Amino acid sequence: MKKIIVAIDGWSSCGKSTLARQMAKALGYIYIDSGAMYRAITLYFLRNHINWENSKEVEKALKNIELDFRPNDQTAQNEIYLNDENVEYLIRDLVVAEKVSDVAAIQEVRAFAVAQQQKLGKKKGIIMDGRDIGTVVFPKAELKLFMTADNVVRIERRFKELVEKNPNITIKEVAENIQMRDYIDSNRAISPLRQAKDAIVLDNTNLTPEEQLKKSLKLVKEKT
Ligand code: C5P
Repeated sequence: MKKIIVAIDGWSSCGKSTLARQMAKALGYIYIDSGAMYRAITLYFLRNHINWENSKEVEKALKNIELDFRPNDQTAQNEIYLNDENVEYLIRDLVVAEKVSDVAAIQEVRAFAVAQQQKLGKKKGIIMDGRDIGTVVFPKAELKLFMTADNVVRIERRFKELVEKNPNITIKEVAENIQMRDYIDSNRAISPLRQAKDAIVLDNTNLTPEEQLKKSLKLVKEKT
């Protein structure tokens, strides 16, 4: 079967990464979480007190950042490394989530991340999720999905995930963060979140993960 590129875009906390991981496993494809790259860059900026409003400082900082995806020995799933440190769990923190959309709106940051994402897709057989994958990173991807889900469902899902790690987190904080990121991501000047013209909309409000996987694999089959 021919290997293709699957681009998955959509709003925050729509279950993009859950679907992408499951699809990659079922198809034997590589999964790349492009949001993890923006989160890792944000973590670096926060740790090193980089003033990201100063483009010279951003350019200099990016030269010291090396991002890498390596499979976890136990789960075989890709995890992100920032300068050789596994930051897969650290980057999910709300401290990072609160700043990531500002950092991801910076031109130099996007150019840095997109170049690496395109390189990773050279051999096809890849599923990448994010906000601009079908529009900017892989405009020629054979299959593009645009995911959406009811707001309340999205907030509840993300809250459930975050409260396990941080019992003090409130649903209000989670709701505000999702709302803020969606606003910034879809209103920024460079590569705003948009549904690609040839993307297929997948609303998973009332779909179980199994149903959504089945639907998506059928779409892949039609393209291969
Ligand atoms: O996918 P995730 O929610 O982890 O992404 C975190 C943030 O990274 C998004 O809110 C967005 O600001 C940014 N992002 C982006 N472009 C992508 C993926 C993520 O701007 N392709």
